[in-house]
Amino acid sequence: MAKTKVLVTRQLIDEAQRLLDAKEEELEIVQWQSEKPCERSWLLENAKGASGILVMLSDKVDEELLEAAGPQLKAIASFSVGTDHVDRNALKKRNIRLGYTPTCLTDAVADLTIMLILMAQRRGGESMAKVTKGEWPQMPWHPLLMTGPQIRGCTVGFLGFGRIAQASLQRLLPFGIKRVIYLTSKPGQPVKEDQLGLLKNANIPIEPASSADQLAEESDVVIVGCALTPDTKHLVSTDFFAKMKKLAVIVNIARGPIIDTNALVKALDEEQIFGAGLDVIEDEPNITADHPILRQPRAVLVPHIGSATIETREKMATESVKNLLAGLANEKMVNEVQL
Ligand code: DGY
Repeated sequence: MAKTKVLVTRQLIDEAQRLLDAKEEELEIVQWQSEKPCERSWLLENAKGASGILVMLSDKVDEELLEAAGPQLKAIASFSVGTDHVDRNALKKRNIRLGYTPTCLTDAVADLTIMLILMAQRRGGESMAKVTKGEWPQMPWHPLLMTGPQIRGCTVGFLGFGRIAQASLQRLLPFGIKRVIYLTSKPGQPVKEDQLGLLKNANIPIEPASSADQLAEESDVVIVGCALTPDTKHLVSTDFFAKMKKLAVIVNIARGPIIDTNALVKALDEEQIFGAGLDVIEDEPNITADHPILRQPRAVLVPHIGSATIETREKMATESVKNLLAGLANEKMVNEVQL
């Protein structure tokens, strides 16, 4: 009997690779071997005849790829929580299932959110850069040296209030924040999913914002945690920054294009806001040393490492393989997007 073909756009780790290799008798496994991201031309050439494809968030899943694969394609498994790289309508039209990894990375990304808030407020990037350049401040100690806003007493505004946002809030509560506002696709309406029981049990106000303007005006910390969709692209731009407080910081742990980078650079240049902590940025991964954001001392930028703990990446890999195999076998995936 002919083997079922699957395409995998990365080498996987430990358990995930073992799980996949254990199916070698039934599956023809075609796997990208380099440490670099999979080339589009390789993906298109090798997709032909595949019944399942395991992709990274850097691989676009669109009409072109689905056409190249052919009508036998049953399942896409994405090694990510975000699925903005996937054309959901194109999958739905063809009855192709989509697996993803929304739960196992929540803690890792929430941890990084706190790191970025503190780095942005406490000028972590700027301070480290001085020391690294051999510019340790020469005055013995100065009362105003490297001062920044304090987290206690802050109003925290969440753009998007899903799992990661709520796990970030759980970590923020012990810092003594004062109030939380959040904006979802249904402004002014309370979210239904109280993932961690915080909405019920936290002893500070947690309220839906009626608009992005309200959130910008009232927050000391803005956390961008929503999905990238046509509606959220550049949701944070010139007008939003103009409404933010001068001592406020913004953190993006979602997708780069939700923040208009040019507007952010201008807001930092003109000191409309205090700082930014970014795990993601428009145009990543093509960020070269001359990028204007890197000339902003109050912007901390890390290269999309939100989920980069060893444990989490292992879980994401394993879950992606399980989703792929479940898709081939018409079984329940660990996590499946309802298309
Ligand atoms: C995802 O999985 O979508 C995240 O961006 C990874 O950090």
